[in-house]
Amino acid sequence: MFPTHRPRRLRQNPGLRAMVRETRLSRDMLVQPLFVVPGSGVKREISSLPRQYHLSLDKLVEEARAIHGLGIPAVLLFGIPESKDAQGSGAWAADGIVQKATRALKQALPGLQVITDLCLCEYTSHGHCGLIQPRGDGSVEVLNDPTLELLARTAVAQAEAGSDLIAPSDMMDGRVAAIRGGLDQAGHTATPILSYAAKFASAFYGPFREAAGSTPQAGDRAGYQMDMANGREALREMQLDLDEGADMLMVKPALPYLDVLRMARERFDVPLAAYQVSGEYAQILAAARAGWLDETRAMWESLTAIHRAGADVLITYFARDAAAAL
Ligand code: PBG
Repeated sequence: MFPTHRPRRLRQNPGLRAMVRETRLSRDMLVQPLFVVPGSGVKREISSLPRQYHLSLDKLVEEARAIHGLGIPAVLLFGIPESKDAQGSGAWAADGIVQKATRALKQALPGLQVITDLCLCEYTSHGHCGLIQPRGDGSVEVLNDPTLELLARTAVAQAEAGSDLIAPSDMMDGRVAAIRGGLDQAGHTATPILSYAAKFASAFYGPFREAAGSTPQAGDRAGYQMDMANGREALREMQLDLDEGADMLMVKPALPYLDVLRMARERFDVPLAAYQVSGEYAQILAAARAGWLDETRAMWESLTAIHRAGADVLITYFARDAAAAL
C-alpha cells in the first residue's frame, strides 16, 4: 500500500514552503552588539570578529544610525575604557565610556533602544567580573557581596545616562536584587533589567575577550559562570533572577544551549533573549572563508534555530546582515 501521508506534498515549491513555514524571523527581534572605544574617528575592525568594529563615539553614532535605519530596534553596548583599575571604576564613572556613548546615542537617535551590558570585567585590571582577593596559593577569589554594591552603582550610572535596558552579565549571586534596589532608590523605577541569567562558562567567548581585552589575568570564570553541563541549574538561576526582579531573561551562548532555551520557554512567561556569542559568529565566518559552508545559509539556520527553540530576542553579530536581508 502506497503511503497516504506524503510530507513532501507541502515542500514542492518555494511558495508552498513559505506558506507552511513555522518560524519566521523579523527585524524587531534583533539586537546588534557594539564596542565603543576612546578617541575620535576610530572605526577599527576587530581581528577576531570580522565586520565588527571598535568605534569611537562619533563613529558609534554613525554606525548606530545605519543599524537603526535597517529596522533594528536595539543595540547592546560594550565599553573599552582608557584605563583600568582593581575596582573597575570606569564602569560606574559618570563620564565612563558606556555612559558617554549612551548619552550620545540617545541624543542622536532617541528611538533606538540602548541596552547596556553591566559587568566589571572590561574595567578591572585583573579582568574578573568582580572584586578579587588573592588566596595564599597564588590563585584569586572573586568576592560576591562586596561586588554587588559596585554593580548597583554602575546600573544607576547607566540609567542616569539614559540606558533603556540594563543587562547584568557578571553572574554574581544576588546582583539582580542589588541592581533593582539601587535603581529604585535612585528613582529609576521604570528602567527594566534583562538578566544574563543562564550564562555559561563557555569556550565560545574567546573572540569577545580579544575584542574587549577582558581575559582574566589569573584563573578563569568557572567560579561564577555556570557549568556547561547543567540544565536544571540554569532554570534555577533564571527563577532566582525573576524572584529578584528581572524583567527579561537571557540564555548565553545560544546554539549550544537550545535545550535550556526550550525549557525556559516552557517554564517562564517573561520575554526570553538568547545571545549568539562571538565564537558562534566567528566559527561560521571562519568556515565560510575556508569555503566549507555558505555563510548566509548558516546565519539563517542558526538564528532560526535559536528563535524556534524559544528566544524572543536575538542578540547577534549578524543583526546587521540579517536585517539587511529581511
Ligand atoms: C562580560 C561579557 C562577556 C560576553 C558578554 N558580556 C565575556 C565573558 O563573560 O567572558 C561575551 C560575549 C561574546 O562572546 O560575544 N562578562
